[in-house]
Amino acid sequence: MLILGIESSCDDTAAAVLRNETTILSSVLTSQDAIHTRFGGVVPELASRNHLEAIVPVVRQALSHAEVLLEDIDLIAVTQGPGLIGSLLVGFSYAKALSFVSNIPCVGVDHMAGHILSVFLEEEKPEFPFISLVVSGGTSSIYLATSFHDFKLLGRTRDDAAGEAFDKVAKLLGFAYPGGPIVSKEAKSGDPQAIQFPRSWLEKDSLDFSFSGLKTSVLNHCNTEKQKNNTLQLADICASFQEAVVDVLVEKTLMAARQHNISTVVLGGGVSSNPRLREHMQKRSREEGKMLFIPRPEYCTDNAAMIAFAGFHCHRQCLDFSYDKDVYCRSLLA
Ligand code: KG4
Repeated sequence: MLILGIESSCDDTAAAVLRNETTILSSVLTSQDAIHTRFGGVVPELASRNHLEAIVPVVRQALSHAEVLLEDIDLIAVTQGPGLIGSLLVGFSYAKALSFVSNIPCVGVDHMAGHILSVFLEEEKPEFPFISLVVSGGTSSIYLATSFHDFKLLGRTRDDAAGEAFDKVAKLLGFAYPGGPIVSKEAKSGDPQAIQFPRSWLEKDSLDFSFSGLKTSVLNHCNTEKQKNNTLQLADICASFQEAVVDVLVEKTLMAARQHNISTVVLGGGVSSNPRLREHMQKRSREEGKMLFIPRPEYCTDNAAMIAFAGFHCHRQCLDFSYDKDVYCRSLLA
């Protein structure tokens, strides 16, 4: 079975061809970072316009890299939500049209399901049930995954997502967008204990996150230092901020595993490509006797291979699809 995956939920246009859920024949992505960087964040209208220009060449490239023709494809899997409505509409409408004219079945995929399942693109696969931490630019959520289509939301951010916090802190430090990778690079030469930024644990046993207070603390620290005419120690600020985010993400994920008596933990989403998060999660999972699975960085960030994989399982479950289905901006996984 050949599955064509299409992803356009935010600012990356991606397409991939997967054979039998296990072999990635191609995975193509065009990033819009260069377009949005001067605005310090994604401009939705620009994102959808650029998806319009990119979608046809990206899909064509994915088919040609996989050395297959459109008529060889058995299933089109496309991100239906959550994400930016204008961006989603481009990929979703294109996939529906492609399906309609070529008579290939189509399936709408939840982007979060893609991130939760992206780890199955790797050789080493986890067994269900597992606890999944999905951390990206728009989400910080913990799920209990019991099958390829059963995900229970255990906790989520009440304000900023982890990636959003990285991007906002990067912006206030004068770095380009997306700031997460720049902050993590800068943090390598800093002292994570230099500044004691707050960790927001919320109520006892809560699996929710909150990162907006941490972001404000970084801003307050920078303002105080400037008032004292001190030079900002960028590497220390980045390392200390990163440590505060990582501490909370790791401990809450392991708390979820303890609360539900689950021995396997999985990461997904752009922020899980952060080296410090990967390293600290490894260490703490080992200490707690949990098995940890993290996809390689290119499968952590948005990609269409994970959408093709999740779509394969939606299709297997015979989730119905009709051409009057629409995109949605908030995740339906509850
Ligand atoms: O999953 P993703 O590719 O897509 C969206 O959410 O759209 O995640 C992108 C997010 C951005 O906020 C980016 O700054 C963050 O993931 N990110 C990182 C790192 N790499 C990407 N954050 C921290 N450290 C990184 N190394």
